[in-house]
Amino acid sequence: MRVAPSLISADFARLGEELENIRALGLDAVHLDVMDGAFVPNITFGQVLIKSIRKSSGLCFDTHLMIEKPCRYLDDFIAAGSDIITVHFEATEDLAADLRYIRAAGVKAGVSVKPKTPVSVLEPYLDDMDLILIMTVEPGFGGQGAIPECIKKIAEAKALIGDRDIIIEADGGATVKNAVEFRDAGCDMLVAGTAFFKAEDRAGAVEALKA
Ligand code: DX5
Ligand code: ZN
Repeated sequence: MRVAPSLISADFARLGEELENIRALGLDAVHLDVMDGAFVPNITFGQVLIKSIRKSSGLCFDTHLMIEKPCRYLDDFIAAGSDIITVHFEATEDLAADLRYIRAAGVKAGVSVKPKTPVSVLEPYLDDMDLILIMTVEPGFGGQGAIPECIKKIAEAKALIGDRDIIIEADGGATVKNAVEFRDAGCDMLVAGTAFFKAEDRAGAVEALKA
């Protein structure tokens, strides 16, 4: 299982070092939680920060847009160097258009569903997406506990996509203890904020999270 550390749990005074540490530990992606204080009750960072760290890191930038009307900023997050851009089903005004726009820029297109949004809503859009991000916590903050019912949604998403080449990513509350539940449910890529950045032994945490 691919592990993508979530940068909001990093030390922002040492972002360059933190990104280098992710790479040095053999990981290939970093999860970038963009929050606007409107779609979620928290504000983190935007395209300016992503553009700045792009210069110093070759990691896959997995950008998670927790923002209202994401179409307004797709150009910014494409230009900033995102490799994946994920919009929220609950925030977009035209999911098919957003997904196609992201793909047309050569960026992988993802869609995320909040805990209460059923996976079935994605059915009409499956051929337009490269990734499904299953929220296993209410979006807005790192350090929350995973919602058990949401882990089942990973298996539902896996079943829904059939043999399509769509990455199933899960986001929120992953720990070295529950990572195996995410894997058994069919998770291909696991976000880890607290479990990675707050770990005493990050290398050990990475091995355990890879389940
Ligand atoms: C929450 C974010 C998650 C969160 C993960 O809104 O989308 O990526 O930062 O952090 P942990 O792994 O600590 O739950
Ligand atoms: Zn996220």
